[in-house]
Amino acid sequence: MAQTVRGVIARSKQTPVEVTEIVVPDPGPGEAVVRVQACGVCHTDLHYREGGINDEFPFLLGHEAAGVVESVGAGVTDVEPGDFVILNWRAVCGSCRACRKGKPWYCFSTFNAAQPMTLTDGTPLTPALGIGAFAEKTLVHAGQCTKVDPQASPAAAGLLGCGIMAGLGAALNTGAVGRGDSVAVIGCGGVGSAAVAGAHLAGATTIIAVDLDARKLEWAKGFGATHTIDASATDPVAQIQELTDGFGADVVIDAVGRPETWKQAFYARDLAGTVVLVGVPTPEMRLEMPLLDFFSHGGSLKSSWYGDCLPSRDFPTLIGLYRQGRLDLDAFVTETISLDEVEQSFAKMHRGEVLRSVVVL
Ligand SMILES: NC(=O)c1ccc[n+]([C@@H]2O[C@H](COP(=O)([O-])OP(=O)(O)OC[C@H]3O[C@@H](n4cnc5c(N)ncnc54)[C@H](O)[C@@H]3O)[C@@H](O)[C@H]2O)c1
Ligand SMILES: [Zn+2]
Ligand SMILES: [Zn+2]
Repeated sequence: MAQTVRGVIARSKQTPVEVTEIVVPDPGPGEAVVRVQACGVCHTDLHYREGGINDEFPFLLGHEAAGVVESVGAGVTDVEPGDFVILNWRAVCGSCRACRKGKPWYCFSTFNAAQPMTLTDGTPLTPALGIGAFAEKTLVHAGQCTKVDPQASPAAAGLLGCGIMAGLGAALNTGAVGRGDSVAVIGCGGVGSAAVAGAHLAGATTIIAVDLDARKLEWAKGFGATHTIDASATDPVAQIQELTDGFGADVVIDAVGRPETWKQAFYARDLAGTVVLVGVPTPEMRLEMPLLDFFSHGGSLKSSWYGDCLPSRDFPTLIGLYRQGRLDLDAFVTETISLDEVEQSFAKMHRGEVLRSVVVL
């Protein structure tokens, strides 16, 4: 029997989001219905509601979530009702060209639920990143449910479902930060702060946080930044070089995603170092620079999709570190809100007042 629950939808570009009744079907083969306990507000939700991702309105927003499996469809064996899970948007297929090469974190054919959730009049909803978790319940592919320690707080655990995982993974997976490395992170919102925390976990000894906002720099210190640079007042490239014996950092992570910040990352890096782009540029952005600079600086220039994470490997590990007090996921939760407050949380995000607002149900 399909159920009717409350969810946050975006009907069209630029109109505020609204809470309405949505219909969640019973799970079909390979699917699961999850009772959502917490879902963080990510910049991507705002991109959806502004029409910046695609035009498939109405959207069911929310995708950074944790909850409890309520029911599963035929053939589901990895999770069962009662399991505490983090929802992921990388349910790997196991058979695409990336999976066959043993690099499933690049999976090009990830799974989502086959049946649509709908409005009560039958209009199909497009769930954000194939999840749609600003809702009391949601329907996903069972592979999108990653079981973790149920002792974890849902608000903290859910953050690993998107932005915080992207930042941690930009340092730990993509940047492969190692013991004793120097790391600079440009842009210390939720994603960049998580990159700072990831560099700290990996044993980096110099961790330089760069932002335009003093509040963010203060928070970054709490996640392990050893130095901070206010890029509105000073040239971050020269400052990063000065803090690294004139050479530049081993790994520089751009968690803003603009041509100017990427160039700063490129030139603030030591010879043969690594640049990681985890911030997402917009389609009109262009980069112009001497090709010779790419050659003469050597090293690697990488981008990081979802922190190159493999949910089945990374989520339980990071929750384990959180439970041991070695990764303070709670510190990313600036405020908890209700489903009715998602629109206001977008405004707070714009004003830079939060690392994460988290809807708690
Ligand atoms: N790669 C992925 O898989 C992935 C996943 C989630 C989010 N993201 C992207 O990561 C980026 C950051 O997300 P967020 O949630 O942290 O956003 P946010 O808005 O909370 O943080 C951005 C930060 O960058 C700072 N900033 C802006 N311009 C700057 C500049 N010129 N120099 C220094 N700092 C500057 C801002 O003050 C802010 O603190 C976004 O582009 C988002 O879409 C990527
Ligand atoms: Zn695959
Ligand atoms: Zn997200």
